[in-house]
Amino acid sequence: MSENLIIFNARIVTPIGFSARRGEEMSQLQIIENGTVEVTKGIITYVGENRGEDRDGYYQHYWHYNARGHCLLPGFVDSHTHFVFGGERSEEFSWRLNGESYMSIMERGGGIASTVKATRQMNFLKLRSAAESFLKRMSIMGVTTVEGKSGYGLDRETELLQLKVMRSLNNTEHKRVDIVSTFLGAHALPEEYAGRSDEYIDFLIREMLPLVREGGLAECCDVFCEQGVFSIEQSRRLLQAAKEHGFLLKLHADEIVSLGGAELAAELGALSADHLLHASDAGIRAMADGGVVATLLPLTAFALKEPYARGREMIDAGCAVALATDLNPGSCFSGSIPLTIALACIYMKMSIEETITALTLNGAAALQRADRIGSIEVGKQGDFIVLNSDNYHILPYYIGMNCVIMTIKGGMLYPVA
Ligand code: NIG
Ligand code: FE
Repeated sequence: MSENLIIFNARIVTPIGFSARRGEEMSQLQIIENGTVEVTKGIITYVGENRGEDRDGYYQHYWHYNARGHCLLPGFVDSHTHFVFGGERSEEFSWRLNGESYMSIMERGGGIASTVKATRQMNFLKLRSAAESFLKRMSIMGVTTVEGKSGYGLDRETELLQLKVMRSLNNTEHKRVDIVSTFLGAHALPEEYAGRSDEYIDFLIREMLPLVREGGLAECCDVFCEQGVFSIEQSRRLLQAAKEHGFLLKLHADEIVSLGGAELAAELGALSADHLLHASDAGIRAMADGGVVATLLPLTAFALKEPYARGREMIDAGCAVALATDLNPGSCFSGSIPLTIALACIYMKMSIEETITALTLNGAAALQRADRIGSIEVGKQGDFIVLNSDNYHILPYYIGMNCVIMTIKGGMLYPVA
């Protein structure tokens, strides 16, 4: 009953479509003044102008929400995070403040390895409750779907544990955020395999991919394709095997060094290539031609003091760009959607309309869910946000501050206190 909802007197602002929007399409939003959205059993059944919903008892079996002219947008899709982990790395952050680089900390055994140590010490309940606390914070900023990665176990048990935590959170009734799981066993080389990275890739292919797939524990497979982590050849080998098992493919690509990760994503038909701070011109063209979603994570560039990805050029080249937070304990301990939007507009020269598409429909496409979420259209899930204004231009103007006053998940209302 509570999933039957009518939202009326809304200014509806949404991209339109059931697949990624590329290039110029990213700036085309549909706006309906005095709009109504009807959600029946969690699915959108009407979008259009008001039909007199403010009359008492218009639809008896529906909750009514008067948006009072405020903007109604699709729920945000945060399509790249690492929110399931143990411990924290604030000390490492202070080393970075003193000038040490992310990669040099990683090379001397800190970085991802230190979170691996902490995560291996967690049990299911502890890990689940730590992860759950992030979901509430995400929901308050308007996120209705999040992608989460394993990659802090790097052994059989702990990788599976991370994925099981996400499955358990996703199976909760009346959850505020849907979770799409990604297997990132190739996030770093575990110390047990020091000097034997090809053997570790063999282990992932031989043992982990079948286990994860048969257990239905992840839809996507990702790899940290980076100088000093996993090479282009190793990434190709792993992802080709993952594809044969039915995984959708993602890559941490060209984050620190221009290695050709974007080109590899296009070659393999990956769903997305992520980070891309140092993607080459050829890589950008390959993503545009190959229909790879370019997922940009400006909070990470900000936190690492790295140059921002070339979002404007990617869109102008015809790419579909998505934005995500990269929430993780190391390179970017932030899940701030408001700051992501501000950085994208200020430093990556994306328009406000493009950032909205990037955080909704294109985020959905980066998870192969553009047929179900990411826009306000009949047949999609009733996932929305209400802003505190009738003007969506406040989104980047609120720098790091939240302007979402209501998150609606499957037709259920979650006011932001
Ligand atoms: O997306 N680059 C690799 N993985 C994460 C960082 C993980 C960590 O530092 O714990 C990223 O930036
Ligand atoms: Fe990441």
